[in-house]
Amino acid sequence: MSNPASPPAVDVLDERPGLTFPPGFLWGAATAAYQIEGAAAVDGRTPSIWDTFSHTEGRVVAGHTGDVACDHYHRLGGDVALMAELGLKSYRFSVSWPRVQPGGTGAANPQGLDFYRRLVDELLANGIEPWLTLYHWDLPQPLEDAGGWPARDTAARFADYTTLLADALGDRVRYWTTLNEPWCSAFLGYGSGVHAPGRTNGADAVRAGHHLMLGHGLSVQALRAARPTAEVGVTVNLYPVDPASDTPADSDAARRIDGLANRFFLDPLLRGSYPEDLVADLRTVTDFGHVRDGDLATISTPLDLVGVNYYSRHVVAAPTEGVATDSAPSCWPGSEDVRFVTRGVPVTDMGWEIDAPGLTETLRRVHDYTDLPLYVTENGSAFVDSVVDGQVDDVDRLAYFDAHLRAAHEAINDGVPLRGYFAWSLMDNFEWAWGYTKRFGMIHVDYDSQARTPKSSAKWYASVIRRNGLAAQ
Ligand code: FCB
Repeated sequence: MSNPASPPAVDVLDERPGLTFPPGFLWGAATAAYQIEGAAAVDGRTPSIWDTFSHTEGRVVAGHTGDVACDHYHRLGGDVALMAELGLKSYRFSVSWPRVQPGGTGAANPQGLDFYRRLVDELLANGIEPWLTLYHWDLPQPLEDAGGWPARDTAARFADYTTLLADALGDRVRYWTTLNEPWCSAFLGYGSGVHAPGRTNGADAVRAGHHLMLGHGLSVQALRAARPTAEVGVTVNLYPVDPASDTPADSDAARRIDGLANRFFLDPLLRGSYPEDLVADLRTVTDFGHVRDGDLATISTPLDLVGVNYYSRHVVAAPTEGVATDSAPSCWPGSEDVRFVTRGVPVTDMGWEIDAPGLTETLRRVHDYTDLPLYVTENGSAFVDSVVDGQVDDVDRLAYFDAHLRAAHEAINDGVPLRGYFAWSLMDNFEWAWGYTKRFGMIHVDYDSQARTPKSSAKWYASVIRRNGLAAQ
């Protein structure tokens, strides 16, 4: 939720010590296909659930769609040149499934594959390591019409699509992530319905979450079969979840939300089981009859790395007695009445509380699950930017990055094997249900002219990359 009246994040970057990151730290920036590419009906691409959703009245603020977005499809060369100016070591992008496999089944679309071949070649020519995400939310519409992620077959379709991509790009892409943020796909897509496809059924959301993870496991196996040397992982969005007080009721609320937000994914993916308390919390929603023998073994197929997206912390409290549960569709099935509490700390333009120590906590927590190398595959903030004399002095965004990089460094000092960090986002883009009204980019995009203007945060990030760390202030 947006809270534009909130105070700015941080006033000044005062007297902070310099910090150096480990040699070879992978400094990157991230984007996603539907958020930047545009060219929605060009060269054989067919609709995804996000095309349908954004073209449905009332779903996206101001009726914005990704039809044109940043027109990256036609501006690939200039955009990679900007990445090279920043000195990026890596660029995390996603492949639009319906661009490379229209309809989600059958043969590849050569023109679609060609676009990604050109992108990858251009990156490599500029010394930028391509980092490919297979699924950043754009399910081909016919697969949704056949049941979407709540249907088991979608997982098998995802594995087929993976093979097609591994065959086409596996010779030049080393880093692969299967899913981006399965929590959002499952619980925002099928629970609260604020994301595509906009369905609102708690049991479907839980089934979707399971089949997304099953698709992930099958996808990892498909990648391993086609490209044994690929570095393969998954990206999850995680939040520390704190109780608002130390009462048993608030602690229980925190346990429930932590189960749905974090452990629903971390436990099956990294331990091969669903947490018992989560299954119990969901008893009134589903009997987990969709889980078949062998699924959890597939889901926990060994990985090479884990990607963590971090934005904020949740603070929650027990339901207020005597107050009826809000009847709006929820992304917290079985725990709809838990209250989300705001602490009055500075927030971003999304209304998300700024909490850098939460990143250290989150990375430590994932390390408790696994010794695998970790990467922050997204971290960043939306703020209202203004272009003054051709400059965007985004001090709040810069301060957000600075604080979170310090938090990431602290995790490294604690022994967390953090190997890279991707800023969200390279450039302003289509922010899902918020359309173009929220700007996360280090590069400003004027959507009328498609002019790109690096903001202060971009120039600062370039200096961070150059020195492999932060300068003393
Ligand atoms: C994440 C998404 C990304 C972007 C940021 C702000 O949840 O992965 O596409 O929208 O949030």
